Amino acid sequence: MKYHIVTYGCQMNLHESEKIAGVLKEAGYAEPAPIEEADIIVFNTCCIRENAENHAFGNIGALKQLKRAKKGLIVAVGGCMVQEEGKAEFLKKKFPFIDILFGTHDLPRLKALIEEKRARKKAVISVSEERGETEDNISPVRTSYPNAWVNIMYGCNNFCSYCIVPYVRGRERSRSAAAILREVEQLVADGYREITLLGQNVDSYHDGEVDFAALLDAVASVEGNFRIRFMTSHPKDFSAELVAVMKKHDKICKHLHLPVQSGNDRILKLMNRRYTREKYLSDIALLRHEIPDCEVTTDIIVAFPTETEEEFQDTLSLVEEADLASAFTFIYSPRTGTKAAQMEGRIPEEIAKDRIARLIALVNQKTREKSAKYVGKTVEILCEDFDGKKGMYLGRDEYGRMGYFKSEKNMVGEFVDLKITDANGISLYGEIV
Ligand code: 5AD
Ligand code: SF4
Repeated sequence: MKYHIVTYGCQMNLHESEKIAGVLKEAGYAEPAPIEEADIIVFNTCCIRENAENHAFGNIGALKQLKRAKKGLIVAVGGCMVQEEGKAEFLKKKFPFIDILFGTHDLPRLKALIEEKRARKKAVISVSEERGETEDNISPVRTSYPNAWVNIMYGCNNFCSYCIVPYVRGRERSRSAAAILREVEQLVADGYREITLLGQNVDSYHDGEVDFAALLDAVASVEGNFRIRFMTSHPKDFSAELVAVMKKHDKICKHLHLPVQSGNDRILKLMNRRYTREKYLSDIALLRHEIPDCEVTTDIIVAFPTETEEEFQDTLSLVEEADLASAFTFIYSPRTGTKAAQMEGRIPEEIAKDRIARLIALVNQKTREKSAKYVGKTVEILCEDFDGKKGMYLGRDEYGRMGYFKSEKNMVGEFVDLKITDANGISLYGEIV
């Protein structure tokens, strides 16, 4: 039997889908397939912003015909959106053809839910408050060789005022350091070349005495030819120990993704971020002092309730001052149940759109300027894939920049030194040295 998984949202969710595939395999769905050929279709949803939800609504709704035409097809919807209060019932009403609804904590139970559904006509709904079993028992079906994601922790305790994650992913839980190291060692032995340690808030990692810096140190001490990334970090937890570990190991990419969200202290306070602009800038100065060629990327939300034009300009100036390499940019999206959703002073859509357009223009300009400096230099790329349209192989350098090159030989999974001949926005083009 065949399966098809549709994923919304972040890397965390992409990895969660690899685990869903692992559970499906155990339930007898061995092969991935296009949506029309699948015996089970699973939507792994995201609810971090309204547009992610609307996207899923559209795609689920479009299945109505297929579901009617194909007897025995199972449609399952899981993930963050299903975990939102009252959302499972809402989804069931809106899309009565859904067979299984499962929350973020119910993934280890998915096999049992499928069996339950096969045995009865009625839809099966399971939205638990806590993850009963540990995720360690699930073997993911990995889809992104030579890169592999490894969860180190789940959930978040920060309660940034705009964010729904703590409500749908629960409180912080760290995996044992021993289990993480075992997984990394196995991945390296299997030939994976890039390991990304994943957590909503990796700095909060704790297993007894082992904090995140110690874990990173241990992972980077695993023998083998591979590199390491991690995300996401929180500026309030930025530490000199972390910088020291990054500096100590060549295996750790000289790249820090450090979401700032806003460059203005009043807005940061309203967001409950617990750091100031000055602290963010001084942390980055420390990082650059220790690791001069380290690149920093960020996440930014514009048009948070009551944000003024001057306050928005503080965000623009921070991008410059911190010399950020790139940013994921978002218009504030109110999420039911969060503190910010009750705040007055919503920013009108035209103003929000104008702000994000100006921010994106600045970020793109920064990225272009940085890329242009690569021309004539040699960078190491981990080759990830072949782009059929371009007829070129592609991969990323340690800063996350995409590099394209031609090769007669299949280079996927190899580290390649590229002499950069051309830079175009975020992409670099080069020749193998
Ligand atoms: N509105 C807009 N952006 C949001 N993010 C999280 N919640 C919201 C929201 N309600 C953004 C933050 C976070 C990234 C993953 O998503 O920038 O870092
Ligand atoms: Fe959300 Fe803040 Fe936790 Fe990130 S740190 S998941 S933005 S609450």
